[in-house]
Amino acid sequence: MNPLLEKLQPYPFEKLRRLLAGVSPDGKLSAINLSIGEPKHPTPELVKKALLQSLEGLAIYPLTAGLPELRQAVAQWLSRRYGIPAPDPATEVLPVNGTREALFAFAQTILNPGENARVVCPNPFYQIYEGAAILAGAAPVYGEPRSWEGVQLVYACSPANPSGAVMGLEDWKRLFALSDRHGFVIASDECYSEIYLEAPPLGALEAAHRLGRAGYGRLVAFSSLSKRSNCPGMRSGFAAGDASLIRKFLLYRTYHGSAMSLAVQQASIAAWSDEKHVEENRRLYAEKFRAVLPLLAPPLEAGLPQGGFYLWLRTPIDDAEFVRRLHAEYNVLALPGSYLARDAEGRNPGKNHVRIALVTPLDECVEAMRRIAQLAANL
Ligand SMILES: Cc1ncc(COP(=O)(O)O)c(C=O)c1O
Repeated sequence: MNPLLEKLQPYPFEKLRRLLAGVSPDGKLSAINLSIGEPKHPTPELVKKALLQSLEGLAIYPLTAGLPELRQAVAQWLSRRYGIPAPDPATEVLPVNGTREALFAFAQTILNPGENARVVCPNPFYQIYEGAAILAGAAPVYGEPRSWEGVQLVYACSPANPSGAVMGLEDWKRLFALSDRHGFVIASDECYSEIYLEAPPLGALEAAHRLGRAGYGRLVAFSSLSKRSNCPGMRSGFAAGDASLIRKFLLYRTYHGSAMSLAVQQASIAAWSDEKHVEENRRLYAEKFRAVLPLLAPPLEAGLPQGGFYLWLRTPIDDAEFVRRLHAEYNVLALPGSYLARDAEGRNPGKNHVRIALVTPLDECVEAMRRIAQLAANL
């Protein structure tokens, strides 16, 4: 067996399952699950229609590079969304089967394994970065390292899961300068970029453009239709940026066998070419945030996230205990923040936080928040 598999941490939902094993909630209250970041708004009709109209594509092996029309639709979307010149669809864009597999596979493409190989992840973070680093033979580093020696890849996540924080132009300037000095590659995870309440979050390619950098050297951005277009089951996203890295990524993916079904490609073209459904999606999330935030009173604390659909809530007691009691006494599921982070410099930055995904319908989110506030008031 691959010994590196032993180094993988249990996934946060596995830890949650263990935490709640043997806890049976009082059945008087309806169950509400806000623990998983799975979009629940309806998949747009135009996406379903395009998929159905392209089913004959199932009879054909798709190319890993994808259809030129899909790469073109993505390049055009990037240009419209970020006000940048359209990336070259032939060399700077590649379809991926959702950002999860792509963020994982990218590490396998980029990393030269060895004693000293290191990958920087945000902290708290999306656990795929950690597993990708480990299985590629590198050590994950949580948060900014003291020394950049051996760092080959940095994962950035903006808007961040779980905190909702967005990287600004100064943050990118600093990260680009570090990459220029130390030679590491940046993988920018932007799968929440279209879920925001006020200003559209800055993207990595946009930041590079606005900072006047010549091209996208050592930078690849990853985005997805899962959250933007409410089709997490379609498994569709893209990688875009540094042409030399995209070329190697395509080579890796050809062997890995991660081509996108032609029917999914056609549905993706329809999705990337329409913004109406995305605006409606944002409106639904904004409505939920505006309804639930006023229900939170001290000792609970959470601000409006700059992006994404999570409330990153500060809890007055240990987060796992809070989640356990919330489930047992109020039949609401949330995710302990400490499961989404690692100890670094002697502390776990997710501690005393819970992540609440506002994915269910408005009335359920409101009801869940009332119960959360009640638990906090009774502590
Ligand atoms: C931060 C982050 N990145 C990537 C993904 C993967 O999304 P997908 O593979 O559906 O594009 C998720 C999913 O929850 C996520 O939270």
